Amino acid sequence: MSTRCDHSPVWAELQAHFDQDGAASGRGFDIREAFKADAGRFQALSFAAPEVFADLSKNRIDATTLALLLKLARDCGLEARRDALLRGDPVNHTEGRAVLHTALRAPAGSHAPFNAEVQASLDAMLAFAESVRRGDRGAITDVVHIGIGGSDLGPAMVVQALEAFRAPGLKLHFVSNVDGHDLAPVLRGLDAAHTLFVIASKTFTTQETLANAQAAKAWFLAEGGTDVARHFVATSSNTAAAAAFGIDTAFGFWDWVGGRYSLWSVIGLPIAIAVGAEHFRALLAGAHAMDQHFATTPLERNLPVLLGLLDVWYRNFHGFTSRSVAPYHQGLRRLPAYLQQLEMESNGKGVDLDGQPLAIGTSPVVWGEAGTNGQHAYFQMLHQGTDVIPVEFIAVKRPHHGATGELAAKLADQHRKLLANCLAQSQALMQGKTAAEAATEKAPTASATLDRDVLARHRSFPGNRPSTTLVLEALTPSSLGALIALYEHRVFVTGALWGINSFDQWGVELGKALCNQLLPRFESGDTAGLDGSTAGLLQRLLSA
Ligand code: F6P
Repeated sequence: MSTRCDHSPVWAELQAHFDQDGAASGRGFDIREAFKADAGRFQALSFAAPEVFADLSKNRIDATTLALLLKLARDCGLEARRDALLRGDPVNHTEGRAVLHTALRAPAGSHAPFNAEVQASLDAMLAFAESVRRGDRGAITDVVHIGIGGSDLGPAMVVQALEAFRAPGLKLHFVSNVDGHDLAPVLRGLDAAHTLFVIASKTFTTQETLANAQAAKAWFLAEGGTDVARHFVATSSNTAAAAAFGIDTAFGFWDWVGGRYSLWSVIGLPIAIAVGAEHFRALLAGAHAMDQHFATTPLERNLPVLLGLLDVWYRNFHGFTSRSVAPYHQGLRRLPAYLQQLEMESNGKGVDLDGQPLAIGTSPVVWGEAGTNGQHAYFQMLHQGTDVIPVEFIAVKRPHHGATGELAAKLADQHRKLLANCLAQSQALMQGKTAAEAATEKAPTASATLDRDVLARHRSFPGNRPSTTLVLEALTPSSLGALIALYEHRVFVTGALWGINSFDQWGVELGKALCNQLLPRFESGDTAGLDGSTAGLLQRLLSA
């Protein structure tokens, strides 16, 4: 049994299938023809997982392709690797660690690893969050969360997504960038006496977070704040470093919680402060339901597995190098940024588990923007550009505008417009428009003098552009939990098939080390030993 899917004999079978001629094979697969040939295509290629419905039918796949991809997954031992992950084997082998974010959302009393410790930590964190919400620590009006990467993106994205569940009168601010233009405007207008700072860093050594934390502390003292211990708390696995900073209240967690998988741990404190303990538990429960689906559903109907296999099909056979995510819900506008870390930091790797160079592509570029905004920016390229970019649409059936009367009616109408736009985009990507079709139309803004055929070619669309549509009934703590867990497992599936370690991130180290070496040169101006470009840029930045 090979762990690298390109070493499996099924890989060659897939390649042969891809290379076959015809609209029903791989390279030439035509989604429009597939719908014409099979009236049951939507039913056959749509899947239900907890809280998430997925339509995969507008993709370049059919039963034969799926069967081969599933055969590949089995041949590569995907189920065994999944079970090893969930059991707590040290699958992050370069750091000798287990990867157990799933244990963080297992219910109390379950057989999940570390259940007693996890529940005790969760109870303590939630009790603290509730005490802040009740005003037990004085009247807190503003919570400033300072962290970066996995200690920022997850909590920030979730707090924004669950805006409808947030306590009124409590403002949450997220500061991540070492650029002072992030912190300064947040502090402006805050009252030290009513502000709580949460310093979130798994390692408590991250340059950006420590710099922002020091600056926040200096501001707090300058503003007349006296009780640092009361107004600063930390979430970290390095509670000793937090104590050295002057923080008494530190919520710890374990090395088996990866940074980009940590929002379920005490790193989720700002989420709990924003939405309360009950909703935080619902977030965990939604994720746990998806964990169960991933752990027990046959691969044929296992949504994270199917999405992961589709990613392999597109990345390694079709050669698509990016995927766009289009959440049609304003609350999910930070989801693409969150997914960039989740997917690209996890699977942006160039060697296999044995350190051997890979001969196939790994993480695609993941990018996107909330719909409909993206439509008026880069969708032009998705429709008519020279690259094929699979798009992932996320539609939310029921909105939660919190409006009444005439405004409620207006916003309900806007929601229909939002959903119609979402469906229209995936339809347009698939359908396209031939030059002959375009030639029959009158375009009001088209030149009256340009040759009609030339104009028609400008106005035609290739179509056959693939997309997936995920549908949530409503954006709630539990549906959001399930959606995030779906993405986490999908990233694991692709990483497992590529035979890489999805849980380390050595690629971020070199830049950090070089930054530390460069920093003193910004004081001394010394350029000795630097390459010409870096020396020239340093001199330019330091020049009077
Ligand atoms: O630099 C990358 C990284 O290590 C991420 O993996 C992590 O989420 C982020 O930095 C923040 O790290 P920490 O929580 O230790 O401050």
